[in-house]
Amino acid sequence: MPDYYAVIGNPVAHSKSPLIHGEFSRQAGQDMRYEAILAPRDGFLAAVAGFRQHGGKGLNVTVPFKLEAFGISTRLTGRASAAQAVNTLVLEGEAILGDNTDGAGLVRDITDNLGFSLSGKRVLLVGAGGAARGVIVPLLEREPRILAIANRTREKAHDLQRRFSGFGNVVAIDYTDLHGERFDLVINATSASLAGELPPLPAGIFAAGSLAYDMMYGNGHTPFLQFAKREGVAGLADGVGMLVEQAAESFFLWRGIRPRTDTVIEMLRSHA
Ligand code: ATR
Repeated sequence: MPDYYAVIGNPVAHSKSPLIHGEFSRQAGQDMRYEAILAPRDGFLAAVAGFRQHGGKGLNVTVPFKLEAFGISTRLTGRASAAQAVNTLVLEGEAILGDNTDGAGLVRDITDNLGFSLSGKRVLLVGAGGAARGVIVPLLEREPRILAIANRTREKAHDLQRRFSGFGNVVAIDYTDLHGERFDLVINATSASLAGELPPLPAGIFAAGSLAYDMMYGNGHTPFLQFAKREGVAGLADGVGMLVEQAAESFFLWRGIRPRTDTVIEMLRSHA
């Protein structure tokens, strides 16, 4: 019997995780199967219990269950407890290890795939929801000169500044105070792109040679990447690389093998 893994979410039909993990396991010669599980919005616990009964060994967790996954974990990695959200579960008998591989996936994509060093850089993180919170500590670990956080609801950015100030130089900044500021890397962690919207970023925030990174992806450039392009930014990246890299971190946690990611990123881009 192959070892059993799945991604659980609602909705989940659009998830690329089965494709990605299918490729990883094929490349790494692992005897495993990986499925997508659609759980009712109030049925996360029951779905996890059913998965365990069927011998399930590990889960990726996506919207809207990352907080519930955090809640059911009996043990947490440091990065999951900092993020207060879990995207990867390892089921070990009665124990449940909760991890969060999103931030590591983002950082690996930026540093290894895009060749952009974070050390000493001015970084702007746009958004203060779950997606932003999950990447703050891994970003700070790379010692940027500053990590500024801008959010529509100001108080949420200030909360994150308070919570993470022990990990590095992190400051909340209002959109209106961004005029005249310049950043080497601007990361869009808002869900605005999903609605075809653009956060209220002023012109002129991109320093020479900067990188614009949207954690979302879709067909063509997101509104944020279109904005960056209009601003003359040459380095434009969407969230496909992060998606594959966070999956690779999960795979490593489950199987102890680090899969190749470049071919899988290439495959997803050519399918888009
Ligand atoms: P996620 O877990 O994906 O981060 P979330 O917790 O709902 O989702 O957070 C969404 C983020 O996108 C928030 O930072 C939100 O700003 P608010 O905190 O003010 O709601 C931000 N966001 C969504 N749509 C936006 C828009 N059109 N302009 C600016 N920010 C937006």
